[in-house]
Amino acid sequence: MLGLKGKRAIVTGAGGGIGNEICARLASEGCDVALFDINRIAAQQVAAQLSSVKTSIHEVDISDYEAVGFAVNEAVEQLGGLDILVNNAGWDIAQPFLDTNPEFWDRVIAINYKGPLNLHHHVLPILNKQGAGKIVNVSSDAGRVGSTGEAVYAGCKAALTGFGKSVARELAQNGICINTVCPGPTDTRLFEEFAGKGEFGQRIRSGLERAIPMRRLGQPADIAGAILFLVSDDADFITGQTISVSGGLTMHG
Ligand SMILES: NC(=O)c1ccc[n+]([C@@H]2O[C@H](COP(=O)([O-])OP(=O)(O)OC[C@H]3O[C@@H](n4cnc5c(N)ncnc54)[C@H](O)[C@@H]3O)[C@@H](O)[C@H]2O)c1
Repeated sequence: MLGLKGKRAIVTGAGGGIGNEICARLASEGCDVALFDINRIAAQQVAAQLSSVKTSIHEVDISDYEAVGFAVNEAVEQLGGLDILVNNAGWDIAQPFLDTNPEFWDRVIAINYKGPLNLHHHVLPILNKQGAGKIVNVSSDAGRVGSTGEAVYAGCKAALTGFGKSVARELAQNGICINTVCPGPTDTRLFEEFAGKGEFGQRIRSGLERAIPMRRLGQPADIAGAILFLVSDDADFITGQTISVSGGLTMHG
């Protein structure tokens, strides 16, 4: 992809299934990568696989505004600047909405919606100043079409898409592109926690595989490919867009 060599990127949730693949692809294109994750060991394991580029590891809870500001400054110092942000961290526990409570809503909103707001608020002044930069928000098809057992999470993901479009409008003239990628069901730990283990989990997985036109779950590499395109110079004239990567499960006009 065009223009990625030598760029500096922050990836949140870098230690997870999709985050791992995003970091690997960025590094393979010659990007230096700052790995943000609440799980330092997972981020370290991913960083250990990235060769011949600069990496920095930041143990940070993205829901903590001050901590995010500190980590962003640290990353900029260690990588020598910043060009790309991928808001990929996310979290949920699947359960019917009526079984949830306000404490749970607060946590889901803090991570899936306020987390990306915190990152945008600390990163955008840097991108604005240099008049260039790319942001991709990892939302979810749950936010576009709904998902049983994920009501509050789906609401946050829909909010993230609307937020991204609005800031994309505000900053398009400053050379900043902000786009959204919506994975469908993708084979990671988060999906395993959603579907559940054992026979019940296997039934959910098989049902989804039958429903997906391409007859398989997404793999992290499927999601990373779309993100890499959107942060590259190949996507310089694309902003405020939302793309589903779901094997055709959801098709949007
Ligand atoms: N897997 C799917 O089926 C699927 C579908 C749609 C959207 N998504 C989205 O894709 C993104 C990546 O998910 P994944 O499937 O790789 O999940 P994952 O659980 O494998 O990875 C998520 C990562 O985020 C980190 N994280 C969680 N809370 C954090 C916090 N407060 N601060 C910092 N880091 C935190 C975790 O430690 C983990 O490393 C998420 O935004 C998720 O909502 C996933």
